[in-house]
Amino acid sequence: MQILRTESLKNRNTLSLQAYASALAVVDSDQQLTQALDWSRAQGLAVLPLGQGSNVVLAGDIDALVISQRSSGFSVIAQDENEVVLRVAAGHDWHSLVAATLKQNMYGLENLALIPGTVGAAPIQNIGAYGVELKRFVRGVQAVDIATGEHLTLTAHECAFAYRDSVFKRELRDRLIITSVDLGLSRKPLLEISYPALRSELDDLGVHEPTPADVFAAVVSVRRRRLPDPVQEPNAGSFFKNPVLSAQQAQPLLKQYAGIPNFPQADDGIKIPAAWLIDQLGWKGRMHNGVGVHAGHALVLVNYGSDSGAALLRLAMDIVSSVQQRFGITLEIEPRVYGN
Ligand code: FAD
Ligand code: EPU
Repeated sequence: MQILRTESLKNRNTLSLQAYASALAVVDSDQQLTQALDWSRAQGLAVLPLGQGSNVVLAGDIDALVISQRSSGFSVIAQDENEVVLRVAAGHDWHSLVAATLKQNMYGLENLALIPGTVGAAPIQNIGAYGVELKRFVRGVQAVDIATGEHLTLTAHECAFAYRDSVFKRELRDRLIITSVDLGLSRKPLLEISYPALRSELDDLGVHEPTPADVFAAVVSVRRRRLPDPVQEPNAGSFFKNPVLSAQQAQPLLKQYAGIPNFPQADDGIKIPAAWLIDQLGWKGRMHNGVGVHAGHALVLVNYGSDSGAALLRLAMDIVSSVQQRFGITLEIEPRVYGN
């Protein structure tokens, strides 16, 4: 294992922001991960695990040892007539896992197709799309404690998953490196097609009795059409979380704006698309200082050629203020911001 000093992270984040890490280690095994952690402790340097950098804003240089795990692959660790439990290495590419499991008749992940990133990062914000969240499948998470090097396993319950949230963003924030994730997949097709955009995509494709493969294809198709490819237009997906309002907070809004899309939640909250709020205020397609709001989706901020995370965060703050002023709702940034 090699530790590289003063490494540029520009090609390691999908917003393509320029930032230098004090040090970078690319590790292939648990043993190399232990060596890297020992080294960081000896140097008194903080540690930042980085996957594919698709949910981070690098707003400045990173005074830490950045650790990238290249481990990949999965194996069956338990099974019965209904379920197969896979242990998947943290460095495995998420979308490749979705495609591979579908091919091997292990079902459930289809709605989460084409989400960029690694398996190790997926539990951090409990990735979700098109009516499905990761939490439905997690049976356990293996991790290493950054401070002590100790290996531990968390149950799904201990992960405290919620919408775009988990214990890894709260009590255990910055304390663990996830090394593998156990996922329970169904042996029988598990269809979830209630999300409106997915249903209408299936209709447009002329599919009335979808198979898991149809759902996978429809999700890939709708995502390709709606979301910009970070290779062409550097972005981090949704820049803000969708606000979840209490029924009382939501009532006046639903009354005033008849067409406002809204998603009632299991706990009585009502999720309002942040994209709709931002779109109403005319932000879509606006560009300033090399950064802007994507012309096709108001929730996606794009780096059109600025190296600076600061410009992007300024734009984000302007959007937050204008939504606050007009709707009285405070938007929360979704990706993790580092280096500011
Ligand atoms: P990174 O961006 O590298 O890291 C994200 C956070 O996780 C950082 O805090 C990092 O320190 C931490 N982390 C990474 N790996 C580990 C590890 N092994 N152990 C501990 N901490 C770790 N997300 C969704 O939920 N739904 C979507 O539909 C969706 N669509 C997207 C579309 C686009 C075009 C883009 C660019 C992003 C989208 N995202 C979406 C966000 C992103 O894909 C996910 O958050 C993904 O899980 C991030 O994976 P990553 O490997 O790139 O993580
Ligand atoms: N909308 C607008 N204007 C726009 C875009 C969308 O008014 O410019 C409206 C749409 O009409 C639709 C609603 O907003 O009624 C929701 O749009 P969409 O289906 O695109 O979903 P979203 O709420 O913007 C969320 C996730 C996405 C995930 C999709 C699909 C969050 C923060 N984002 O986006 O996740 O892929 O649903 O489930 O929850 C990500 O986290 O990076 C991400 C892309």
